[in-house]
Amino acid sequence: MPIAKLEAEHRRVLEMADTLDAMAAGPFPEAPGIFTQKLWSFTREVMAHLSNDEALVVVPLMDDRRPHIAQLAVQSLAQLRALHADFERHMADWKGLPGAEDWPGYRRSVQTLIRRLRARVAAEESGIYHFMPVQRVDRQPDLPANCTGAASKAA
Ligand SMILES: [Fe+2]
Repeated sequence: MPIAKLEAEHRRVLEMADTLDAMAAGPFPEAPGIFTQKLWSFTREVMAHLSNDEALVVVPLMDDRRPHIAQLAVQSLAQLRALHADFERHMADWKGLPGAEDWPGYRRSVQTLIRRLRARVAAEESGIYHFMPVQRVDRQPDLPANCTGAASKAA
């Protein structure tokens, strides 16, 4: 899976996080079912993405010949699994949206998960992703050295 695909997954989960964060910043939702549905969809996307990060980036980099990159991957795996476990713990602890009286604690838990996810995404995109070979899906085929491009033909 190309890094571009993982970055596209980041954009998707961050967009979902923005929506949830805005809802969590307000009072107890008038339509609790919508919040629960959005949180469930978000959690499912995050879990799938974390699994992709682990399998496609972090674990392969643990065998990197550069010791500092391998060590970075080991640390990244521990952080990734801790975040994964905390998402699972949140879902197990709360089992759906609580009543209005528990809203402050519940939304603090959601906001903390979102903040940690954002920090992880930023750290990946500025760090560990750069140590993988870039395999962009939109990669252009190599042009022969003597091939003129469309811009030079138009001039
Ligand atoms: Fe990621």
